[in-house]
Amino acid sequence: MKNKFSIGVFDSGYGGLTVFKSIAEQLPQYNYIYFGDNARSPYGDHSFETVYQYTLQCVEWLFAQGCQLVILACNTASAKALRSIQQLDLPKKYPNHRVLGVIRPTAEVVGDFSVNKKIGVMGTRGTVNSNSYPIEIGHFFPEVKVYQQACPMWVPLVENNEHLAGGADYFVNKYVIELLQQSEQIDCILLACTHYPLLVPKLKAFLPAHIKLLSQGDIVAKSLVDYLSRHTEIETSLGKERKRSFYTSGDVNIFNKQASVFLGQELLASQVKLS
Ligand code: DGL
Repeated sequence: MKNKFSIGVFDSGYGGLTVFKSIAEQLPQYNYIYFGDNARSPYGDHSFETVYQYTLQCVEWLFAQGCQLVILACNTASAKALRSIQQLDLPKKYPNHRVLGVIRPTAEVVGDFSVNKKIGVMGTRGTVNSNSYPIEIGHFFPEVKVYQQACPMWVPLVENNEHLAGGADYFVNKYVIELLQQSEQIDCILLACTHYPLLVPKLKAFLPAHIKLLSQGDIVAKSLVDYLSRHTEIETSLGKERKRSFYTSGDVNIFNKQASVFLGQELLASQVKLS
C-alpha cells in the first residue's frame, strides 16, 4: 500500500502550535496538517456538548484531508471531547482512525517533576472544571496532591498577542497568587493549556525561582514517538515527505501573523469554512 496518511494536529486556535513545534522537531519525517478553529475559539468556557461538537467537526475535517491519526493539542478538547470521540465516534464511523489527547501523556510523567509531591495545574475553566488532571494524575501518582487554578483571561491575552505587554501583568499575577495561596508547598506548576507556554517569560517574573514550570510540547512529542513505535500498523501507513500544511477557520492574514509568534517561523495558512 502506498504511504499516504498525514498526522493531524488540532487546537481551538494557536496554542496547539506549541505542541506541533515539539512534535515536528522530534518526528520531522512525517506529513502534518495543523488546524486551528480560530473562528470559534476560545473553547475554555463552552459547554461539554459544544466543545464535543466543535472538536468532532474539526477532527472529521482532518480525517477527510487524509489524517489517520489526529492529536488534540488542546487540553480543553482533550478534557471535554476526547473520550466521546474515542468511545462513540471512532468505533462506529472510523474504526481505522485514531485520536489522541494531551492530558494522559502529561499525567503519566508530571509527578516526577515535584519533590514535595504538590503540583499546581493552571488551565482553562473547562479543563479545571472537568477535574481531568486530578483524576488522571491520581492514577499514576496517588501520592501527589493537585491544586488547580482556572485562568480564563490568559487565552484571550495570548490570542491577541498582548501576553507580554505591561497590561497582562495584573491577570498573570492574580492567577499565580490565587494558585500559590492554596499551598506554600507547590514546587511544580503544569501549564495545562497549550497557549500558556508563551506566558513563560512573564510567569517567571511573578513566580519564586524554586518553582518549576512545565509545558507540554516535549512531553506530548515523546509520548507520540513511543506510541508510533508501539503501533507499527499506524506508523507504516504515514506519509514521510515532510509536508506541513496549516489551516484556520478564522481570518488567514491574522492567523499567519499570530501563528508565527507561536511557531517562531513564517507560515502561510489556508482558510476552512465550517458549516
Ligand atoms: N489551547 C487550549 C487548551 O489547551 C485553549 C483552550 C481555549 O480555547 O480556551 O486548553
